[in-house]
Amino acid sequence: MRYDGRVAEDEITSLRSLAAAEAACTRCPLYRDATQAVPGEGKSGARVMLVGEQPGDKEDIAGKPFVGPAGRILDRALRDAGITREQTFVTNAVKHFKHEMRGKRRLHKRPSNYEIERCKIWLDHERDLVKPVTIIALGVTAARGLTGKTVTIGKIRGKRIEMADGTSLVVTVHPSSLLRIEDEAEQRAAYRSFVADLKAAAAIKPEPKARLPLR
Ligand code: URA
Repeated sequence: MRYDGRVAEDEITSLRSLAAAEAACTRCPLYRDATQAVPGEGKSGARVMLVGEQPGDKEDIAGKPFVGPAGRILDRALRDAGITREQTFVTNAVKHFKHEMRGKRRLHKRPSNYEIERCKIWLDHERDLVKPVTIIALGVTAARGLTGKTVTIGKIRGKRIEMADGTSLVVTVHPSSLLRIEDEAEQRAAYRSFVADLKAAAAIKPEPKARLPLR
């Protein structure tokens, strides 16, 4: 494997080799200021793939996705939706933490379309290795990473979109958007809708394969 960000496609045959390739990624400048690439977490064969935006401060340090405040709310929502961690593969559209310094604090910055596009290769490999039944895009960056299009949450939230390979895609809000709601009642209602989206998406059945004609 060449550690220059241009790992040959045929060297990526497992989630482990994929993580090594991601760790060497220099496809966009974000690797320069991040501690490390944060690969997806979960098993190949997981039914549900959850895609967030990018690692935050805590994830950048831990090298694991969704371990900070957004991760806590996501874990709780998954539990409330009856989804076990084993059923999921959790990842991000962008694998390096994009941020700006504000004093000593590292503040999250939204990735550009160019950065999302450059990272798509890793999402594609993850989809190929995990082969989920359903992908849940958490927010617009994840949706852009998966579809290559700019989407409006209000327009497509909760709808089943069939991807070219037959996988179902459902777009919902990013869990961190719930943390920004100040009104308690509104926050509770938004949380309930988020849980309902997760539950409905996880209940989607695989599309039946086309039947072979009888001889
Ligand atoms: N937000 C994300 O989108 N992903 C993470 O891993 C953490 C926070």
